[in-house]
Amino acid sequence: MVTGGAGFIGSTLVDRLLAEGHQVDVVDDLSTGSLANLADARTQWARGLTVHQLDVRRPDIIELMARRKPEVVFHLAAHEDRGEPARRPALDAEVNVIGSINVVEGAHAAGSERVVFAASGTTLYGQPGASDLPVRESHPHRPRTPHGVGKKAVIDYLVAYRDLYAIEFVALALASVYGPRQDPRGGVVAAFADRMVAGEAATIEGTGKQTRDFVYVDDVADAFVRAATRGGGLICNVGTGHELSILELHRVMAEGVAVPPDPTFVPGRPGDAARLSLNVERAAIQLGWKPWTTIADGSRSVLEDRRRRRDRRTRPPVGR
Ligand SMILES: NC(=O)c1ccc[n+]([C@@H]2O[C@H](COP(=O)([O-])OP(=O)(O)OC[C@H]3O[C@@H](n4cnc5c(N)ncnc54)[C@H](O)[C@@H]3O)[C@@H](O)[C@H]2O)c1
Repeated sequence: MVTGGAGFIGSTLVDRLLAEGHQVDVVDDLSTGSLANLADARTQWARGLTVHQLDVRRPDIIELMARRKPEVVFHLAAHEDRGEPARRPALDAEVNVIGSINVVEGAHAAGSERVVFAASGTTLYGQPGASDLPVRESHPHRPRTPHGVGKKAVIDYLVAYRDLYAIEFVALALASVYGPRQDPRGGVVAAFADRMVAGEAATIEGTGKQTRDFVYVDDVADAFVRAATRGGGLICNVGTGHELSILELHRVMAEGVAVPPDPTFVPGRPGDAARLSLNVERAAIQLGWKPWTTIADGSRSVLEDRRRRRDRRTRPPVGR
């Protein structure tokens, strides 16, 4: 079962699981996700896929899970304020904390083997010092936003449920994930690509000297699949271990565009880390996982994806 399976990362994971021959149940309220993300899955592997349009805040999820009895639950459904962080912290906690408790209760009722949780490596460690980068899982967990606090709380619940009911878990602390299907409001790579293919200037928040660890969505789906059978009871960072500044990202992506306009700058967001990269040695040892997509290759496929979407939108209707 993949909660949030109609979303950007979730649908990529669903494609991978179906291609491996698994039966997959998707639970998604379609608030930010879309059935269009599952279009390929539906045409290619229709018999393996069941979609349940359901809000994880509703207790019905427990009953559904008890009935469907998933062996493994990949829990990716989550709320995140796009554009303006911490605009609706109570809603964030309802979906991300209460919704996650429902999902773990459902896993207990279903007798599931384990829950693999999409934790947030971008918020879990707060602002690590320069000497702590790339940051390890043992670094103090000090999120600086309500969203990060909720995501951290879910890890604490997973530890408690493991002790209480022997439900195994893995919490994948994800770096900045990018790739095709990402909403331009959900990540800087998709936002840059959206502007660049339209011939418009990309917007950089802050100075652009802030760094992030960008990891490609297919590599992330691979980490989830591995975590279904390995890494029990652990938090594992999923990133590349490398810092890339936003200015550098812009430069790399601009190479894939004919005449990219210079970027425009707007003020940065409060709570944003100045520098971040995740140490991924634990994922290598415990999951046998390594990232393998370069930012040049990965961002090129995002540009191609945005170009295709733009062409579809601007193509005249057939018959005119
Ligand atoms: N994208 C990143 O860089 C990143 C980084 C760290 C962690 N994560 C985590 O990865 C997960 C997936 O993120 P994404 O980038 O694919 O975002 P997304 O918005 O594309 O996916 C989230 C999915 O959850 C669904 N959803 C939201 N609220 C729901 C609810 N109440 N009930 C059922 N479904 C609900 C949405 O419709 C959507 O399909 C999230 O848990 C997110 O916090 C993402």
